[in-house]
Amino acid sequence: MSSAAVVSVAGAPGVTTLACAAAAASDERPLLVVEAPSSGAAIAARWRLDIRDTVATTARLAMDVADSVDLWAAAHHPWLGMSRLIPAHPSSVVTRQAQVARWLADRLASVPGPVLIDAGRVDGSAEQFDLLTAADAVWVLVDPIVEQVIAARAVGDWLNRTGPVELLVREPAGEPARNSSNAVASTLGWPLLAAVPSDVQSARALCGLSPARRNLARAPLLRAGRWLADRLMPVEVPA
Ligand SMILES: Nc1ncnc2c1ncn2[C@@H]1O[C@H](COP(=O)(O)OP(=O)(O)O)[C@@H](O)[C@H]1O
Ligand SMILES: [Mg+2]
Repeated sequence: MSSAAVVSVAGAPGVTTLACAAAAASDERPLLVVEAPSSGAAIAARWRLDIRDTVATTARLAMDVADSVDLWAAAHHPWLGMSRLIPAHPSSVVTRQAQVARWLADRLASVPGPVLIDAGRVDGSAEQFDLLTAADAVWVLVDPIVEQVIAARAVGDWLNRTGPVELLVREPAGEPARNSSNAVASTLGWPLLAAVPSDVQSARALCGLSPARRNLARAPLLRAGRWLADRLMPVEVPA
């Protein structure tokens, strides 16, 4: 597997933060993060990236240079760790008008390295469907709370039609995750890929809000990010 899209169904369970954790954990093996939510883009603002200067916005790439663009080369880098980033345009109007999700879906297979897409919330659009279908896997992040589980179940059939779906369950702060994660997985009928720890300090650092601590790499959220990034690295077959 070399591409996955992370989505959520409701609330703000931490999709963007998790994508940032995977990016920050990529060291010698770079990961490309593409932010492609239909609304609610955050990375350019959080990291004070100048979206006017860089070609690294999917919307501009989509409008300006039609077909021949090399996403890997055009991405902003280095970003967190050794990762590369294509941030979304902060305007959902621009994103929708440029049909960024469909454009990205058409180009995903040509990217030479592993790609993690922050696809934001499930919006049921035809172009988001194409994007999730183009990704090798869809990872759905939910908080183990009733409204998110109901919302996920309600779009379960739609998500299943895009290909393999796996579940990420955010761990409630201060509680062992296992029981609630397994309960959510059996209710939704998707395999549990991982529990995502509640880790307020690392989450703040990954939103660009507080300076990273020296031991950030060993923080629980970064470990989860590394584990997910590893899922996207092709397994090397020994000669
Ligand atoms: N694993 C986590 N533990 C604690 N706080 C988190 C975690 N993930 C995200 N947050 C916090 O929750 C808020 C929303 O996170 P964000 O990643 O933007 O959500 P989404 O992309 O799903 O809307 C941010 O303030 C972020 O710092
Ligand atoms: Mg987000």
